Amino acid sequence: MEVILGEIATAMASEADRGRVADFIPELARVDPKLFGIAVALPTGQTITSGDARVPFSIQSISKVFTLAMGLGRLGDELWMRVGREPSGLAFNSILQLEQEGGRPRNPFVNAGAIVVTDAILAANQPRELLAELLRFVRAAAGDDDIHINKRVAKSEANNAHRNWALAHMLKARNNLRNDPHRVLGAYFHQCAIEMNCVQLACAGRFLIGAPETALISVENVRHINALMMTCGHYDGSGEFACRVGLPGKSGVGGGILVVVPGRASVAIWSPGLNDQGNSALGTTAAERLARHMGWTVFS
Ligand code: DON
Repeated sequence: MEVILGEIATAMASEADRGRVADFIPELARVDPKLFGIAVALPTGQTITSGDARVPFSIQSISKVFTLAMGLGRLGDELWMRVGREPSGLAFNSILQLEQEGGRPRNPFVNAGAIVVTDAILAANQPRELLAELLRFVRAAAGDDDIHINKRVAKSEANNAHRNWALAHMLKARNNLRNDPHRVLGAYFHQCAIEMNCVQLACAGRFLIGAPETALISVENVRHINALMMTCGHYDGSGEFACRVGLPGKSGVGGGILVVVPGRASVAIWSPGLNDQGNSALGTTAAERLARHMGWTVFS
């Protein structure tokens, strides 16, 4: 495995077309598009890495996997009353569908759905209490306490998040937010601003492998989260990712991708340049190469 990860990192280093770094969060626009990291975590805790696998990056929408795990743990199937389980076929921050469908977001990974999940787990607590609990969950999953929130990134997003404000107010108007939009979005911007490196993220994703030694949530919830990662984890690029990689994955606009190989491994890949759907361009190529080489797929 060291050899193939090294080959992938070398191949990615010489790619000319690296996508475009997200610029709607100014702090993220400053990240060097040349960086590339990859880490594979096995259920035993062993990790294999290559490239910039120990450089921290903003996990952004990958945080939605962890809040969903907390939400399902707390509310169980009740959560699905407020958010659907269908692919949206639209961009992660689309406003259109939410209005058309009466304020029930299509799935927990589009921004509107993730904002509802954050509202649900916030309940009557203070945002800082929720964020402390989320960090406890992520650190326990990773087996690493050195995972933090980058407040500058959270602030940078808050100052430029007009679409998320629109979504939150629409949700409130449709009676699908219990808390004030400011409190919910305050928590949401900070969850997105969690920083991890590839090793930490791959380790944190082990609870989704479904192996007894890495269990942290129920088997049922592991199955549901993986199904949603496969069908909705890359937004309007989810079908393409399923065809090319054949594994459940969740992307973030920081350029990270968490990929689950059920029963075998958790993989984190990071390359900051994004494709037109807001998913890591080289991250997807690297995941495809690794999955093909290893014969990893859930489809055959
Ligand atoms: O809400 C936002 O727009 C960002 N904090 C997260 C978006 C994101 O990562 C979408 N994923 N590719």
